[in-house]
Amino acid sequence: MTRILLVTGKGGVGKTTVAAATATLAAARGLRTIVLSTDPAHSLADAFDEPLGDQVAELGPRLAAQQLDARVRFEDAWTEVRDWFVEVLGWAGADTIEAEELAVIPGLDEVFALADLKQHAASGAYDLVVVDCAPTAETIRLLSLPDVMAWYMDKAFTTTRRAARVARPMLQRLAGLPVASDAVFGALERFYARVDGVRELLTDGRITSARLVVNPERMVVAEARRTFTYLSLFGHHVDAVIANKVLPAEVTDPWFDAWRQQQGVELEGIEREFAPVPILRSELAPTEVIGLDALEAFGATLYGALDPAARLADIEPLRMETDGDTFVLSLHLPFSGSSDIDLAQHDGELFVAVGPHRRSVVLPDSWRNRSVGRARLDAGRLRVEFVR
Ligand SMILES: Nc1ncnc2c1ncn2[C@@H]1O[C@H](COP(=O)(O)OP(=O)(O)O)[C@@H](O)[C@H]1O
Ligand SMILES: [Mg+2]
Repeated sequence: MTRILLVTGKGGVGKTTVAAATATLAAARGLRTIVLSTDPAHSLADAFDEPLGDQVAELGPRLAAQQLDARVRFEDAWTEVRDWFVEVLGWAGADTIEAEELAVIPGLDEVFALADLKQHAASGAYDLVVVDCAPTAETIRLLSLPDVMAWYMDKAFTTTRRAARVARPMLQRLAGLPVASDAVFGALERFYARVDGVRELLTDGRITSARLVVNPERMVVAEARRTFTYLSLFGHHVDAVIANKVLPAEVTDPWFDAWRQQQGVELEGIEREFAPVPILRSELAPTEVIGLDALEAFGATLYGALDPAARLADIEPLRMETDGDTFVLSLHLPFSGSSDIDLAQHDGELFVAVGPHRRSVVLPDSWRNRSVGRARLDAGRLRVEFVR
């Protein structure tokens, strides 16, 4: 089985360094490893000090790297998608469209990053895929995308398609309206198939873990709390927080006293609040961490005796339990208050909104004749009871 590690966090905290170091160490310890960057501001090449591009490059024994270029991917898949868009946009009066015009549609390029991830995981060529993610906000959008797409495919799409089949001959006869043909629906389905299954990979804690990189600074930690909650909302398993750029004890210059004191406060807070997720620490190095040797050494101090590819914590983001006549759905939503959370039930689905993010949870059939009863937050878990 291929393990997948998603490395995310605020800009500049050391995501790329940690991703590259984790991959380098894992490869040195015998795992066939690839590290991918989905951050459009690629810097893996800088960390390894090697030219990298959209093609897989071998960096050493068992170690490969790739900086996914969304634009190249988009153009590869373009012909497949174009027919569909031409037809759809044709309804709206557009004559011709170019790839460049569509490339601005938000989220579309990200679909291809997910597709590549799925392909690497399924190829059997790697024991470990490490993903150097874009900064938090984009990453959450990327990771929630399969969820959103699945929803549309299940709902809107099947309904539209069914309606189109029945209505097409009549509509065309009556009004001469173009109705999407089966070929177009087929193209859309193939497009979707690229990311279908990605959600299962990314939300299975045995396969995928997310690692949250922070610096022991107040604003960085504040964002990390929110990120943890949103990742959990979408079913992702955070298995470690990595506190990077901790001032080493050797730094005794009084100029850094206030920094050191604040770092101490933040580190203590991180240990307390993110428990039982382990906190791994890495110190601020005397220079930037560049090149295979420096990265491997950085990884070795970061993980020590731990296996970098192992699952380091086991918290289920989403659980559905029945206890006698009580049906309880619980979601791990640390760092959120009840005023941040909104619940709605509709057609066999529970919609959960936390801050700006929203997901739907499809309820098992046997839960569908029940409705939401009591909901409360208990030790970082939202517990929703379903009653008759
Ligand atoms: N522990 C560390 N010690 C010294 N420099 C570091 C450390 N971690 C990261 N850096 C440096 O900080 C900069 C930002 O790190 P990077 O990994 O690119 O962050 P991100 O990917 O989160 O934007 C880089 O120049 C990197 O070499
Ligand atoms: Mg980076």
